[in-house]
Amino acid sequence: MSYPHGAELYRGKAKTVYATDDADLLLMHFRDDTSAFDGEKKAALQRKGMVNNHINAFIMTRLAQAGVPTHFVRLVGPQDSLVRRLDMVPVECVVRNVAAGSLVRRLGVTEGLVLDPPLYELFLKNDALHDPMISEDHALAFGWASAAELKRMRELSLKVNAVLKPLFEAAGITLVDYKLEFGRHGGEVLLGDEFTPDGCRLWDAGSGERLDKDRFRRDLGGVVEAYEEVARRLGVDLPAAG
Ligand code: TMP
Ligand code: ASP
Repeated sequence: MSYPHGAELYRGKAKTVYATDDADLLLMHFRDDTSAFDGEKKAALQRKGMVNNHINAFIMTRLAQAGVPTHFVRLVGPQDSLVRRLDMVPVECVVRNVAAGSLVRRLGVTEGLVLDPPLYELFLKNDALHDPMISEDHALAFGWASAAELKRMRELSLKVNAVLKPLFEAAGITLVDYKLEFGRHGGEVLLGDEFTPDGCRLWDAGSGERLDKDRFRRDLGGVVEAYEEVARRLGVDLPAAG
């Protein structure tokens, strides 16, 4: 890793987080590892860490410019970014513009159904329990987030949609759905974690071709190639292949 860092603080399924000499800053390292189905299916995909690190930096920068506060500070290496240390809310916020995935399985609605206004859902971040769907009242009852935090998470999640849906549309990509995670920082709620094709669904606007982690979930192949295509269409600068 190209940035001086300290102890490993957290190892997730696709990223590792390290301490730095600044107590407020963490090093977020995007590994090549990929997982699906709550960690049941795993693989290492060459270049994925680098591609996702750069897509994330691009998206987080665009979101910050549009007034969505995020933990992202700057790129510091091919697979590394510097971020602010957050106290994470253990809840996953999902926004859906088109029905797919668990929504289709849960409610039997047709995949591809357009959702307007977009649908906002919460899930508990807990692989052992398979990330069960929860309501804001569950989050309140069990102290996972305050009413003010939940209100802000919803507002920011929908603001992200207002920024990213047209951004992807201009790149010929339909932003079908995505998952966000938030954390607390100095009394404020900031967007944390990542925004990459690992945590959203992206369909080619013309052909409907999957350009996201569903390629891995469904063994469609060309996973990283699809992520690189997303980067290319968005105008994300990727280091040359090496
Ligand atoms: P779902 O259809 O499985 O509920 O997922 C909705 C979107 O959120 C999809 O783009 C994948 C993303 N997501 C994650 O990346 N991780 C998760 O743990 C969950 C629940 C969803
Ligand atoms: N929850 C993510 C997915 O379904 C990652 C994982 O479960 O391992 O793809």
